[in-house]
Amino acid sequence: MIRKTYLPGATIFFEGQPADCAYIVERGQVEICAVRERTHITLATLGRGEIFGEMAVLDDGVRSAQARAVEETEVLIIRSEQLRRRIMEAEPIVGQVLSSLIKRFRQAQTGLLNDLPTRMGSGHVVVPNIADNDDDILGAGGAALDWLRREYDLERGLNAGEFIPFFQPIVTIADGALAGFEALARWRHPERNLIPPSDFIDLGERCGLIRRIDLAIIAGACRILRQSVTDGETPFLSVNLSAQHFTDFGVVDSLARILGDTGFDPAHLKVELTETALVQDPRKAHEVLTHIKALGITIALDDFGTGYSSLSYLHSFPFDVLKIDQSFVRQLGKPGRTHDIVETIITLANRMGMVVVAEGIETPDLIPPLHRLGCTFGQGYHYSRPVPECDLAALLRS
Ligand code: CMP
Ligand code: MG
Repeated sequence: MIRKTYLPGATIFFEGQPADCAYIVERGQVEICAVRERTHITLATLGRGEIFGEMAVLDDGVRSAQARAVEETEVLIIRSEQLRRRIMEAEPIVGQVLSSLIKRFRQAQTGLLNDLPTRMGSGHVVVPNIADNDDDILGAGGAALDWLRREYDLERGLNAGEFIPFFQPIVTIADGALAGFEALARWRHPERNLIPPSDFIDLGERCGLIRRIDLAIIAGACRILRQSVTDGETPFLSVNLSAQHFTDFGVVDSLARILGDTGFDPAHLKVELTETALVQDPRKAHEVLTHIKALGITIALDDFGTGYSSLSYLHSFPFDVLKIDQSFVRQLGKPGRTHDIVETIITLANRMGMVVVAEGIETPDLIPPLHRLGCTFGQGYHYSRPVPECDLAALLRS
């Protein structure tokens, strides 16, 4: 459940209850209150964009106060794991600061609440709400509302099967013949049309849904290519795995299941990963890759030339393919050191028995130097943009 509406006067939760979520007010007004010695104490009144119920979620405690809808109120629900994941991803000090703040706040509030009824007599006590007119806080609330909405939309889209593969041809440099495809993710959104990965990968990584997106694309691409190739040689299929897959063996089982379900031959499947997948836990990543290879799948190192470009990774991991990033490829033929570096990398990769793919070939002048250097495959707009499933048959026939 994403949203919930409360009628005027309805209690959202009671003080002392265990917590499984926090809330952001989307519409209406929420009163935070406590009852001490039969005195009703209003601690705060919260409006649109403000968060509440976060404390018990963050410190695994119980609700420090009661929350009640003042008027008809709509709230967005933040599940505990969504909030905790974000804290865990932040610098460890952020978690420490938060938990100490909450602890001190709880202590101060307990003292205040226990004192108030005796000092103020019975009746309705209102503690002024400093956040009320604070633009910054409303601004932050707006941003939080936004990420929450986008995150739920991503999850909804995944469940609705809106993530689909597009296919970008990878061709043999020597003769321009089609050799394979890279499956690229697109989000066919019901209201926003076709969304490119640059608009959802980051969000997917931050909310932990990126693995499911990857697997949806891989499963779709295997099924479509399997169905589209009716005769002749099967082109290879290159798919992307993001770094989060390389912390456990879940991806190995998932890939095995996809191969089983779709009947796609693992000999034609390549998985692409970037060096960021290796840095966090190189030993685990190595084990995961070894298991993937044991399924009969080949491994490609993606975007080489950006980021680390580590020679040590090149020789210590079992890569079959090296994909050279377009920022490097574009320098070919231009005088300068980058040209020499690209030349050296291609030569080195070939010597190490890796097949080289040049990414981002947008103009034909890059082809002769790549050919001369012994680069086997190329990919880029010069050959073809990524195409949807419906255009695949035509490409396969040509
Ligand atoms: P939690 O302890 O999970 O449940 C009660 C919530 O009320 C708490 O998280 C805060 O979000 C909010 N809350 C508690 N005390 C105050 C206060 N003094 N001012 C504003 N909000 C509060
Ligand atoms: Mg790639």
